[in-house]
Amino acid sequence: ADVFTYDPGFTSTASCDSTITYIDGDKGELWYRGYPIEQLAERSHYLEVCYLLLYGELPTAEQQADFERRITRHTMVHEQMHNFFRGFRRDAHPMATMVGVVGAMSAFYHDSTDVNDPWQREVAAIRLIAKMPTIAAMAYKYSIGQPFVYPQNELDYAANFLHMCFSVPAEKYNVDPALARAMDRIFTLHADHEQNASTSTVRLAGSSGANPFACIAAGIACLWGPAHGGANQACLEMLREIGSVDRIPEYIAKAKDKDDPFRLMGFGHRVYKNFDPRAKVMKESADEVLDLLGIHDNPTLQVAKELERIALEDEYFVSKKLYPNVDFYSGIILEAMGFPTSMFTPIFALSRTVGWIAQWKEMIGDPQNRIGRPRQLYVGQDRRDYIDVEAR
Ligand code: CMC
Repeated sequence: ADVFTYDPGFTSTASCDSTITYIDGDKGELWYRGYPIEQLAERSHYLEVCYLLLYGELPTAEQQADFERRITRHTMVHEQMHNFFRGFRRDAHPMATMVGVVGAMSAFYHDSTDVNDPWQREVAAIRLIAKMPTIAAMAYKYSIGQPFVYPQNELDYAANFLHMCFSVPAEKYNVDPALARAMDRIFTLHADHEQNASTSTVRLAGSSGANPFACIAAGIACLWGPAHGGANQACLEMLREIGSVDRIPEYIAKAKDKDDPFRLMGFGHRVYKNFDPRAKVMKESADEVLDLLGIHDNPTLQVAKELERIALEDEYFVSKKLYPNVDFYSGIILEAMGFPTSMFTPIFALSRTVGWIAQWKEMIGDPQNRIGRPRQLYVGQDRRDYIDVEAR
């Protein structure tokens, strides 16, 4: 009989060779193509990071200008897609809308679905990165009953996203460059994270030869879960539910109770067992944004800070190496910027799109690539004979 290694949750299975992202969970290090995340968050910007993740090197000024030109050429979505949006219920969660709309891109952009054509793969990659902010913003506008806002290509990537989310035809809207910078940093911090659940989903979907839009839609669907990208929404909702500092011990006790499924959202990570370097940058960014917006006595922030302090001293969290992850502070920034919690995970999805695409392209170009097909240990019934219904 075949012998298989049993590895539920894939804690010790490497599914591929990759040159894109490196994580050292004990040291709390994250590199994109060798560059530490702290340096990229501080000195680079999202579209440059996209180039780096996709092509392996930082661009020259000329390459960067050319890449940005190619991206901005594709920021609008097919006009017919507006009708597709309108088919959704008004109160649909923007993630639900995004899974559908991104999947439907295979129908709207059929000329870039041939996986075997390198040029079509490239066009699909550019289209996805360029259109994802437009789609996320449209999902938001639709959910609040405001008109869709077209992209403005003279704005940079993050500023354009804020413009599409927050401007209305009736008023002039000026994007605050400091907020755009904070938005850009959130995109950068989420851009890739090696073989996490959604990226593995994209790779597995892609291993069958499925088209890139279908694969990214699968990634978005996986990201939505509260153990993964959905944690940012769940975390802020938890902080609001706690509401005041004096109720924190009650929630800490719930999180520690084996019989209670409740977990502290925004805490813990499969790989980081010391700290999440993204959370560190995010925390600084949160302080900057709140300062900028003059928000000093935000109760959610007070609860977050106190919860972090108590948990980091608590024997349960210390012994299990549970630290705040990237989702712990991102929600505070996004809330301060004016986003409802339902937009937190869509923002994660649009940021991660480049990582999904870079991983998908790497896989397609890998000569070792074959369909992903895990095995199982069968623990069901032994062979038995069918019994007619009258005899059961
Ligand atoms: N609160 C309370 N207990 C926890 C938590 C938490 N947030 N996370 C893990 N534990 C406990 C868990 O009960 C288990 O205890 P025991 O060994 O006694 O059974 C132990 O710690 C190990 O947990 P695990 O579930 O085996 O760990 P995992 O690597 O499978 O899960 C995780 C990692 C991130 C899914 C988990 O820590 C979690 O559910 N965290 C809350 C959700 C969250 O913040 N997710 C965002 C992750 S980072 C961004 C992203 O991926 O999108």
